[in-house]
Amino acid sequence: MIIAQQVADVRQAVREARRRGRTVGCVPTMGALHAGHESLIRASREECGFTAATIFVNPTQFGPNEDFTRYPRPLEDDLSRCRSAGVDLVFVPEVATLYPAGFSTHVEVEGLSQILEGAVRPGHFRGVATVVLKLLNIVDADRAYFGRKDFQQQLLVRKMCRELDLPIEIRTCPTVREPNGLALSSRNRYLSADERQTALCLYRSLQLAQERLASGEQNVPAIAADMRKLLETAGARPDYAVIADSETLAELTAPAPHMVALVAAHVGRTRLIDNQLIAT
Ligand code: PAJ
Repeated sequence: MIIAQQVADVRQAVREARRRGRTVGCVPTMGALHAGHESLIRASREECGFTAATIFVNPTQFGPNEDFTRYPRPLEDDLSRCRSAGVDLVFVPEVATLYPAGFSTHVEVEGLSQILEGAVRPGHFRGVATVVLKLLNIVDADRAYFGRKDFQQQLLVRKMCRELDLPIEIRTCPTVREPNGLALSSRNRYLSADERQTALCLYRSLQLAQERLASGEQNVPAIAADMRKLLETAGARPDYAVIADSETLAELTAPAPHMVALVAAHVGRTRLIDNQLIAT
């Protein structure tokens, strides 16, 4: 496995892989890798002859009072997970490599970046779009792999690639969960044992939406209100609990053909998100 810190080293390794006829898959991450990330790596390995993972805790997508400094950075463990998962190249740049002094170019996906996660975390998606475009340009991948766990993020990345004419296929992989339903997240390591139990309410609120919509209930706002109530009763502090169109993320007032339930809530000091596509 090649470990590269410099852009030029990544480009050279990818050029070499292409020369050998390999298609190139890219798996962008912020590290603290878990089985969710590993599922993306597996998906890339199934489709591509060369898989590049990136590990970069991107400062521009964190707000001033968020967890950038305390975000977990278990680099040795991450590298060994990449190695066991069969990654061909890991790109681990320094902040100054991607954002040298004077850096001032940003990507804004208007609209989509301002609702839901974007409304609660202003500037977050500008940071995500900017770094993802940079990483995809550096790796020059044929395909890039994202998790459905970050539903709005994968929609935003797809829209950016389409509208900026990037010749890259975006793949969205299913959310990996613990057997009890808790979606895997690097931020789960902040949770105490009690908080991990409380955190199950996110999944339960999504199940509530799924069950009531599948049973034919029409009053979508009432279901969303009950999702929020479930979160609050469990002791979480919701930022939002909504049922939206899964293509536009417009909040729904009546059932639609393609729906997704999305929640964000604080459990203790930790902010968690989850979502579920609704099957009716
Ligand atoms: P990070 O939170 O490390 O996630 C990296 C990728 O793993 C994302 O595409 C995310 O959706 C996916 N992922 C996380 N948890 C998952 C789970 N339980 N099941 C399946 N996939 C999961 O998302 C980011 O980093 C950053 O915003 C990034 C795209 C790297 C840009 O900085």
